Amino acid sequence: MLINNWYVAAESADVVVGKPLAVRMLGCDFVLFRQTDGQVACLSNVCPHRGASLAHGRCEESTVACPFHGWRFAADGRCIDIPSMGPDFRIPPRARVDSYPTHEVYGWIWAFLGDLPEEERPPVPELLPEFHDTERWRTTRMVVEAPVNWEKFEENSLDTAHLSFVHRAFGNRMDPRATLVPIERTAYGARVARERTPPRPEAKTGVLGQILSQPRDKTSVQLEFSLLGLCHRIQPTFRPGVSQVVFSASTPIDARNTRQFGLQARNYAIEPEHDAERLAGRREAIDEDISVVRHVRPKIGPTPLAEETLVKADEMEAIFRSLVIKMIEAGWEIDHDKVEREWDRKVYVIPSPARRLDPKGWAHEAVPTTRPRTGFGWRDLARQAGEIANRLGVGEAA
Ligand code: FES
Ligand SMILES: [Fe+2]
Repeated sequence: MLINNWYVAAESADVVVGKPLAVRMLGCDFVLFRQTDGQVACLSNVCPHRGASLAHGRCEESTVACPFHGWRFAADGRCIDIPSMGPDFRIPPRARVDSYPTHEVYGWIWAFLGDLPEEERPPVPELLPEFHDTERWRTTRMVVEAPVNWEKFEENSLDTAHLSFVHRAFGNRMDPRATLVPIERTAYGARVARERTPPRPEAKTGVLGQILSQPRDKTSVQLEFSLLGLCHRIQPTFRPGVSQVVFSASTPIDARNTRQFGLQARNYAIEPEHDAERLAGRREAIDEDISVVRHVRPKIGPTPLAEETLVKADEMEAIFRSLVIKMIEAGWEIDHDKVEREWDRKVYVIPSPARRLDPKGWAHEAVPTTRPRTGFGWRDLARQAGEIANRLGVGEAA
């Protein structure tokens, strides 16, 4: 799991004024709460006094009050009240928790879980402009928790070759070939346009089945991912003018479990009464994915390229994996083995920007990383776009 990335922490609708929300991400605990001005705060959830869960406390104005002894914390993580000591007490600087930048778009609360200063943080990836075009597109939303590793789950989403085998309603086993076309590197990911043979007409049911009941040409599929935000966009066009877009972002709950936030926009049957059917179709597809990926070994990615046998059709996944490895080499990978081993005795937290400015005087230690930090960051990754794909040599390895 990587620090210094944007992650979707919650659906906007679940973060309401006056009620703290507990969220587990990257194997750590957080509390979200909405301030009276509407802004959402995201703090480390473990009270620096004696370790209670802030999310089990109460919101008072734009602060969260610990359930144990009532210490109150502002959105910037500083303690502003220690009731047992009275109003004249000088609050010690250690009485603070890490606070993380947030951003709200698409009905999702994103949190930047890391310590990069503002000028080194890229913007939240916005890959679904259709969301805002409500005249022509109707969007449904879904949150799924899966007992699979985030890296393996995300690779599966970028994998065109599995469709014919895993998904009843998408692929066609009679012609499972992937079209091998050049992949375009983007600043933080890659994009490709492929074609596939549509399934038999009867594989599509419901309103889409009616629209697509006649034999048709190839389905063209545009696929794009961004390591920033761990998100991807998949847009099949079934027939000219008939299209849908899935935009999903994966948030690791821990190394073995992932919460996937998904939006699906469609430009056909946009009346709300068709939502339930679309959601059911999406759920079926995700369950089909999970049923395979949960048994993949090794369970936790990224797996070294040399320990699998990738072919050219796997190039998107290979690019994703190589970008993940870049960030591991930059020292952004949490040493989750160590964190889990010490779980019962020690609290580790994701380091925040304030901790970077002032590294001493915190009750809890920052999570250990598997390698030392090198200073390589998002800007360097963007600068290198293009080079990595050329050097991959996927399909040529022995
Ligand atoms: S443990 Fe939070 S106020 Fe004491
Ligand atoms: Fe799939």
